[in-house]
Amino acid sequence: MARAVLDKTKRGWWKSAVFYELYPRSFQDTTGTGIGDLKGVISRLDYLETLGIDAIWLCPICASPQVDNGYDISDFCAIDPLFGTMQDMETLIAEAKKRGIGILVDLTLNHSSNQHRWFREALKSRDNPFHDYYVWRDGGPDTPPNDMRAGFGGSAWEYVPELGQWYFHQFAPEQPDLNWDNPTLRQELYRVLRFWVDKGVAGFRLDVIDQIAKDPDRKITINGPRLHEFFREMSREALLEEGLVTVGEAWGADTQRAKLYSTPDGSELSMVFQFEHIGLDQQPGKDKWDMAPLSLPRLKDCLRRWQQELHNCGWNSLFFNNHDLPRIVSRWGNDRQYRAKSAKMLATMLYGLQGTPYIYQGEELGMTNIRLELEQYQDLETLNLFRERTAQGYAPEAVMESIWARGRDNARTPMQWTAGENAGFTTGTPWLPVNENYLQINAEAELADPDSVFHYYQRLISLRKTYPVFRDGYFTLLCPEDERIFAYTRDTEQEHLLVVCNFSDEQAAFDLPEEYRDAQVLISNDSQPETRTLRPWEAWMLYR
Ligand code: NOJ
Repeated sequence: MARAVLDKTKRGWWKSAVFYELYPRSFQDTTGTGIGDLKGVISRLDYLETLGIDAIWLCPICASPQVDNGYDISDFCAIDPLFGTMQDMETLIAEAKKRGIGILVDLTLNHSSNQHRWFREALKSRDNPFHDYYVWRDGGPDTPPNDMRAGFGGSAWEYVPELGQWYFHQFAPEQPDLNWDNPTLRQELYRVLRFWVDKGVAGFRLDVIDQIAKDPDRKITINGPRLHEFFREMSREALLEEGLVTVGEAWGADTQRAKLYSTPDGSELSMVFQFEHIGLDQQPGKDKWDMAPLSLPRLKDCLRRWQQELHNCGWNSLFFNNHDLPRIVSRWGNDRQYRAKSAKMLATMLYGLQGTPYIYQGEELGMTNIRLELEQYQDLETLNLFRERTAQGYAPEAVMESIWARGRDNARTPMQWTAGENAGFTTGTPWLPVNENYLQINAEAELADPDSVFHYYQRLISLRKTYPVFRDGYFTLLCPEDERIFAYTRDTEQEHLLVVCNFSDEQAAFDLPEEYRDAQVLISNDSQPETRTLRPWEAWMLYR
């Protein structure tokens, strides 16, 4: 299928684009280590070109002790030998470019590894010039400065006896927070960004970027008072080229803030990952491990708000999956009887919206969550959770239920390429087990089947590039209270799109608007779309 290549030197190219999140560790191994590598990514670029994506968000490949799978970086300008060399990275950037694909580097500007040279220097003395690159508070060994908790459990403070000081870490103790109040540190980070721009990347995915302006004395982590100032400075000093794209991970974003972060004048970021819709199936006031059934009316209302409030004054990113989240087909779809059908339905719902879609590797195959024994999990968050919750008296079975539903490794299993050994991912022992369903679910089989999830994604991507209404249309929600049907329209003066999806195992009635009676079916996951009584998980898009 011929594909229009977007001009990535022009601001806003990403508004017509589809991005692909690639988790290198689990993508393609070429050396038999059981861990994916950059040469593996290069070997699969033709596959990605066939899918039709425009850019890759490449999860961290910088030098790292891998305590948090690369989100603990010890050198922002070096490649971890686990993944290859800088030359491999340069080849990847060049080969991707040849296929019209840009590369986004994933950087953790909020924290570094405790093995970073800066932190090792910082530990030497309070007067060391690098000491102030991190966040320190004085105090005795028994009492941390306050009761703040870290993202992966335990206190957010770690004591260093030699200094008589505590350092602040929002994630693991091996991920000390960087001190953005220090202007020299900020300049160092901008140099890192320039280093990668000079290598020819298309942009950046910025890890937990709304947490950089922290103020632990006031217990502020997200959306700190200087956040916009830092974004503007970073953009002014490091992101000068018009077409550079930045997507900031922002768990704390609401629509008001997201409008500023993604302001169309380009002075802050291009877009943010917000997570409001992702958190709707957890118990209010609790964390993600305490689940609740999803209410479809709440999901619809949430997405409606994001669609309408950012229209013409901000930009959404569209996703249900990533390497931190369970696979959506196992969560809000039905990954047994209706796996392919519900995977396509979820994609239809998402790809009709305004924003930039992100496919998480394997989503385009309809890959599902894995369910492992505790000992098989590698993720520090999962292992800490089990330890903490069982110590607090939770039944181990109940904690395992939470882990099977929400654990991050569930979606990090190796990419399923073929029905061959280890799904074609590695000739060695995979770092995390391959999902046993690879015999049925794999790229080779998907490519051979014209009706596959893969080909459905390919068609959705191509539709988004054909009809401007996907980029520009205004969103209107239909039947907001319906518990099964998610339906909406997107309209410009010239074009009209109606998207209707059945989010259930049951049939569901829909009152087709008069004006769509003779409209064209752009796509459907059913060979005979039923526009008044949708079959389980049926979905379609009508166009006029
Ligand atoms: C968000 C990343 O997506 C996640 O994988 C990581 O553990 C944390 N940030 C800390 O860097």
